[in-house]
Parts: sequence; structure tokens; C-alpha cells
Amino acid sequence: MIRPVILTGVRANNDIHIGNYFGAILPIVDMAKKHADEYDINLFIPDLHSFTTPIDHSQLYGSIMNNARVYAAAGLPLDDESIYLYRQSYVSAHSELTVILNNFVGFGEMERMTQFKDKSRKASRALTQGDAAEGTDGPARDRVSVGLFDYPVLMAADILLYNSTYVPVGDDQTQHLEITRDIAERMNRKFGNLFVVPKPVSEQHQFFGNEQGLRIKDLINPAKKMSKSDESGKGVIFLNDEPQAAYKKVMSATTDSLARINYDKENQPGIANLLEILALVRQDAGLDITLADIVDEFSGRERYGDFKKIVASEVADFLSRFQSRLAKIDDVAILAKLASSEAAMNIIANETLRRVQIAVGLRKDEDEA
Ligand code: TYM
Repeated sequence: MIRPVILTGVRANNDIHIGNYFGAILPIVDMAKKHADEYDINLFIPDLHSFTTPIDHSQLYGSIMNNARVYAAAGLPLDDESIYLYRQSYVSAHSELTVILNNFVGFGEMERMTQFKDKSRKASRALTQGDAAEGTDGPARDRVSVGLFDYPVLMAADILLYNSTYVPVGDDQTQHLEITRDIAERMNRKFGNLFVVPKPVSEQHQFFGNEQGLRIKDLINPAKKMSKSDESGKGVIFLNDEPQAAYKKVMSATTDSLARINYDKENQPGIANLLEILALVRQDAGLDITLADIVDEFSGRERYGDFKKIVASEVADFLSRFQSRLAKIDDVAILAKLASSEAAMNIIANETLRRVQIAVGLRKDEDEA
């Protein structure tokens, strides 16, 4: 029997932060445990997406493995056979399908992607500053990579290769999900039923509940989400931060001048963010608690400093617990899981790729696979 597929990924990067962890990794691990009876769960490491903006390549392989360990430390059951954990670049069909899909996607469509606009602006600013230091020439924008431009098409290939129905991602990825649906529908109209079209975002939200909308904010600038690409790192709590360093970051978090705790995302975004973070770290500690409970507990209190100390010390405790779980992860088990999942994924992905190759005229139906 063919089981529906739930698929998601977090980019390989050593500096996974609590936004990725609580916003993506933990919900998918919980969801994997909950739904593995009925769904296939594809959890992958988009390693080819990791250098669409410049990185230190000597760290990449280590980051990829770290990413796999983080899933395990978050409680992913490695022995469950309906759960697959794999690396994108170990299934070459991802790259090949991207090259084919590129020809059915408009330049303008890609240029309108908000994430491309944001990241290319940032990358071009960073390059301009680098140019000044290194004395290189050429307009900085010329060196915003084509990889960054093409990011959503590779993402569409990631999703469509496995006939995925649900793709739990944060709302910053909504546009990418929508373009994936557009590409699938466009190809289906042109070539017949090639792809399973993932559910619309609203249905995904319904299916996954609240966690879908969860967005941890930057501690210094709570108007924007906590992000790996933040330049200073002061507003971001990384999973590998020293617990004491994280304590200090929380103590320096931006709040407001209202001097009264309320869960009001609009007018008190810093406080609202800290309340959310506190709920998450308490849940991680095994407490059966909701955000509403935390809001009840702290609403109306006036001393932000005392509140921050509580959040800071519970965040530090969370990091200590997490880091000791991570240190115990067995690399042999991780490598075995990756190898078996990648073997299985290559078979499925190559079947889809072959369907597409036949549709676009690169192969004939009766050719050997
Ligand atoms: P990445 O690594 O940028 O983000 C991974 C996931 O983390 C979510 N996220 C957050 N959630 C809550 N609070 C935050 N501050 C926060 N920051 C990030 C993101 O929404 C995302 O769900 N493009 C994907 C990776 C990818 C992918 C795919 C995902 C590549 N191919 C195919 C699903 C299916 C991404 O944003 O990675």
C-alpha cells in the first residue's frame, strides 16, 4: 500500500538555533513519532542548499553530520522503518530534476521570491564590504549566486520527487511551497499526471496545528525572526552556545517601556517572544504546560528583570540538557540510518525522475530503467 508522505528539511549548518529547533526540528520529530504508523516520514538534510550563500566549506561535512545528530538528540527514533533520514546530495535525482524543472519556471517568478530578494540584498551588501577590504572589482550583485536564485526550484524537486503530501515548514517558506504547487500543477497540465501536488498551505496548517505558525523572534530585534544569517549573533541562541553565554543573551533581550508583562505580540513583541521561549523550554523539560499557562503565570508582573532571569536560567538549563543528549549520540547508528534511508530514497526518487524524463522526451517508455 502506498502511504502518504510527510517531508521536511533543515539546512546543514553548524549554527542551528532555537528557532529552527523549536520551530521545525522538534515539531517534525513529534509529528514523526505521532504519524509514522500512517505516513512515510522523509526527514532530510538539504546540504546542496547550504552554500547558496557563502560558507566555510571546510566545515560543511561536519555540519551535515551535526545536523543528523541534532535530529537524533531531539528524539527522532532511528529504528523506525517508516522514518527516513537522508542527505539531499546523496540522492542525485534532486540535482537532475532541478535542471529539468528550471526550464519550466520563469525568471520573473524566481525574482519575485521574497527570500531571494532579502538574501540577495544581504549577500550583495556583504560582498560590497568584502570588496572594499580585498580590493576586488565587479558589481557585487553579479556575485549573488545563481544557486540562491534557483533555491526554490531545488526545493520543489526535493518535495516532488517523493510525492509528498505534507511539508511542515515555517511561514517564511510559504512562498516556496506555493511555487512548488504551481510548478507541479503546471507540469501536470502539460504532461499529464506527473506529480502529486502537496496540500495547500492552509490545509497544512490545519493538519499540523499551531506549531506551524511558530516563529521565534530575534532577541535584540523582536520584529524579525531569529535567523542564522543574523550578522552579530547577539539576538540568536544557537544550540551550541555555552549555557552561560545564552543566559547573557536573554538578559540583554530587547523588551519595551510598558513595564507590565502581557502576551501582546503587536505592542510587546520582545516580552511575547520570551513568554513563548519559556513555554518551549519548560515543555522540553517534560512539563505538561502550554503557552496559556505561562501567560497566566506571568501576566501583570512588573519586574522585567526578574522575569528575564527566570527565562535566562531555564534557557541555559535547556542548553545543558540538550548538549549532554547530543554528546551521547552514537555516530555508527547515525551513519547506518543515513545509508539505509539513502538506498531507499534513491529508488523512489529515480522512479519519479524517470517519469519526468519520459514526459519531457529524454527517455522512451520502453527503455531500460
Ligand atoms: P532553513 O534551514 O532555513 O529553515 C528550516 C526550518 O526552520 C524554520 N525556521 C524557523 N521556525 C521558527 N522560528 C524561527 N526563527 C525559524 N527560522 C527558521 C523554517 O521555516 C524552516 O521550516 N528552505 C528550507 C529547507 C528546505 C526544505 C526543502 C524544507 C530545502 N528543501 C524541502 C522543506 C521541504 C529552509 O528554510 O531551511
